[in-house]
Amino acid sequence: MTGIGVIGTGYWGKNHVRTYSELVSEGVLDHVLICDINEKRAKELGSAFNIDYLTNHKELIDNPDIDAVSIVTPSPTHFELAKEFMEAGKDVLVEKPMTMDIAEAKELVRISEETGQILMVGHIFRHHPAVKELKHRINIGELGTIRLISSNRLSFGAPRSDMGVIYALGIHEVDMFCYLMNVDYPKSILADTRCTLQPEIEETAMISMEFHNATAYAFESWLMPASGKQRDLIVVGSEKVAKIDYLKPQELQMFDIRIAEQDFDGKTSFNVENEGSYTIPIPYAEPLKEELKNFVDCIRSRSSPLSDGIIGMRAVEMAEAALKSASIKRSVEF
Ligand SMILES: NC(=O)c1ccc[n+]([C@@H]2O[C@H](COP(=O)([O-])OP(=O)(O)OC[C@H]3O[C@@H](n4cnc5c(N)ncnc54)[C@H](O)[C@@H]3O)[C@@H](O)[C@H]2O)c1
Repeated sequence: MTGIGVIGTGYWGKNHVRTYSELVSEGVLDHVLICDINEKRAKELGSAFNIDYLTNHKELIDNPDIDAVSIVTPSPTHFELAKEFMEAGKDVLVEKPMTMDIAEAKELVRISEETGQILMVGHIFRHHPAVKELKHRINIGELGTIRLISSNRLSFGAPRSDMGVIYALGIHEVDMFCYLMNVDYPKSILADTRCTLQPEIEETAMISMEFHNATAYAFESWLMPASGKQRDLIVVGSEKVAKIDYLKPQELQMFDIRIAEQDFDGKTSFNVENEGSYTIPIPYAEPLKEELKNFVDCIRSRSSPLSDGIIGMRAVEMAEAALKSASIKRSVEF
């Protein structure tokens, strides 16, 4: 029997509740409980999914049928909650950013190692089927040497008041870039931010990360474009280019295109070799469902999640470095 509690049933927590409830109907999970200090919210969601609700997380700690929790509360509360649950013998999936302070992130990793409790972080893109396909194709050398990565996460929406785009959105990119480049950290990070509406809460950021042979750029903003959203990832290799449009049904676009170098009479010139493009369809799987299934598997098998605490901790370290770089106006080395 495996039981999971979801703490926080706001914008994102609702998705955890819906997905766990699907896993219960599919027989993957035995039961789920929800907890929110906002009783009206917890009650409404509980009756929508026929799930019992609580308003005090301590009741989850005392419940022997609850093995683990998803912490989907505002990020500044993650540290205390994750610490309390691991120390009480429960496994923890904490949403990204794991914390907003590197010392706290390191402490959570230490507690997980000391207690043997699973610590997973909601780096959902590591569970995205198109990203997994892209990573496989990079690893087998199909794209050649990676030269450039670019990612846009743009929309026109109300900014959050608890964190800016670096912690809210850029945390995905700093992790994704290292994942695709097969490294723990970049060589350096340079960032520029703009806070036009609230002090200290940037609603736009440009982050660039240097790797051995490549540079990766992330453009994050809640102030553009005026219509709709843009969420994409482009990886430029020496042999091929790949693109994921996160707003489309899951697929990987491949461009069989490269810059060829020619030597003629001692002079070097370049030309574009374009052999067309094609789309690799990928069977649909909801990334959050893949993530939560991985959590349930790890609770049962005591194995390490695909997005574990160390990955979450490194992402916090890189987000901090990006914010530092924006404030000192030069790059931060790793
Ligand atoms: N992985 C992703 O793609 C993704 C997407 C969105 C948000 N998130 C993350 O999820 C977290 C929550 O974000 P959100 O947008 O859903 O926030 P939200 O403000 O919409 O919801 C947070 C909920 O937590 C509840 N809460 C606060 N403290 C609590 C406590 N001690 N016990 C029980 N309930 C408590 C609040 O009442 C609220 O209902 C954040 O860390 C955010 O970064 C992740």
